[in-house]
Amino acid sequence: MDDRLVTEAEEGEEPSRSDAGAATPGPGRKVFIKTFGCQMNVYDSERMSEALAGDGYREAASIEDADLVILNTCHIREKAAEKVYSDLGRVRVIKEERKAGGRDTMVAVVGCVAQAEGAEIVARAPVVDLVVGPQSYHRLPELLTRSRAEKRALVDTAFPEEEKFDHLPARMRTHSFTAFLTVQEGCDKFCTFCVVPYTRGMEYSRRIADVELEAQKLVDSGVREITLLGQNVNAYHGEGPDGRAWSLGKLIRHLARIDGLERIRYTTSHPRDMDEDLIAAHGEEPKLMPYLHLPFQAGADRILAAMNRKHTAADYVDLVARIRKAQPDLALSTDIIVGFPGERDEEFEQTLALIETIGFAQAYSFKYSVRPGTPAGKLDDQVPEEVKAERLARLQTLLEAQQAAFSAACVGRTLPVLFDKPGRHPGQLVGRSPYLQSVHAEAPGDALGRILPVEISSFGPNSLAGVIRGH
Ligand code: SAH
Ligand code: SF4
Ligand code: F3S
Repeated sequence: MDDRLVTEAEEGEEPSRSDAGAATPGPGRKVFIKTFGCQMNVYDSERMSEALAGDGYREAASIEDADLVILNTCHIREKAAEKVYSDLGRVRVIKEERKAGGRDTMVAVVGCVAQAEGAEIVARAPVVDLVVGPQSYHRLPELLTRSRAEKRALVDTAFPEEEKFDHLPARMRTHSFTAFLTVQEGCDKFCTFCVVPYTRGMEYSRRIADVELEAQKLVDSGVREITLLGQNVNAYHGEGPDGRAWSLGKLIRHLARIDGLERIRYTTSHPRDMDEDLIAAHGEEPKLMPYLHLPFQAGADRILAAMNRKHTAADYVDLVARIRKAQPDLALSTDIIVGFPGERDEEFEQTLALIETIGFAQAYSFKYSVRPGTPAGKLDDQVPEEVKAERLARLQTLLEAQQAAFSAACVGRTLPVLFDKPGRHPGQLVGRSPYLQSVHAEAPGDALGRILPVEISSFGPNSLAGVIRGH
């Protein structure tokens, strides 16, 4: 994932820097946003960027160059949360250096650590001027102005009644061919290991009309592929034009009618929320890509119950069989946790067995991490670190072999690739296969933004390479 997300620079003149250092609002200020965590944070950073652009902020090339530094944080595992504090240490040094040169720097911590820790962040890192949760970042411009005027740190971690999406400016022109679009937020599942229900709040779906408008705007500015996002995206139940709640399957079929939108994806899904219509859409809607990220977390039913996952291993196998029946050409991806409290060796073996049974094209796996405030964090039969490390290594060896097998099976096939960025070497472009693999190929510049047939000739650990055919 991109470490850095920056304000979309407007075309035009470089604003005067004569007021550089002044803590007053005005054109010429620059923002640097660093994004941690999931795709929803990437989306949020883009929206913050747009909100700040309306306030005169432009992209900063580095933290040193930024009048405003925003860390958009993730609280999912301890390591992710701690990274924020090491970054703040670095930001403090830069802020002091800039101050010595007569330039002020505002520092904002936003996202899930902001929500979880609130004012504690300012106590631990006084360099921070603003702490803003994921549901109130539309207020950033106003909070910045207030914090500057009142010369004190502000904390806003409310879940406001007003809807953040109604207060954000419309999407700006994007220069990319793929985009994220958040359609659902929050989670009511309360898996016992997970902080998301506490950091993102209750499940909430955006209205169909609003999603459609945003999708159309993205397509009008050149986007060819949209990934619909939600912490629990397939629990989507947004209000449709008929006043009824529409499911994700219905939303996908609706968006597929937008001319110029070539590909639709969605992430992340919960096995319990894969309804028949969504499954059927995989077989019927050609714009819906044959890739599905469907976390199962663990293979032993006792652990799944302790995790409050609300599904068994057999449920998962049965569900995957039904989805594959609708769409046999499907790349499956998943999330797995090893070392949940009390997980025994034989239970871990059941996780390996489930992976063998299903066969994944791709997977993300993690050592269980104790999270404050979660029920599992209070359990006392925590698995020792070295056991978790050993299990993770075994698991990843198996997953890597499955990923390699999936990639190897692509060699010799001709896949439609959406080219979306230049490659490392001159004359090379990189795109995505329908299965979300990166594909490298020699390609003319005008191939950017187009879907072209690529005959796959080889593969590496994380990508495929091939030759464009019939161009
Ligand atoms: N909403 C998604 C993903 C949420 S977070 C879902 O329900 O699947 C992404 C992944 O992080 C989870 O799927 C889980 O595998 C992992 N994760 C969440 N909490 C964790 C914890 N305390 N320790 C280790 N991994 C965790
Ligand atoms: Fe977390 Fe579970 Fe909700 Fe996913 S479904 S966000 S893992 S609580
Ligand atoms: Fe992290 Fe928050 Fe996403 S905890 S994974 S940034 S929802």
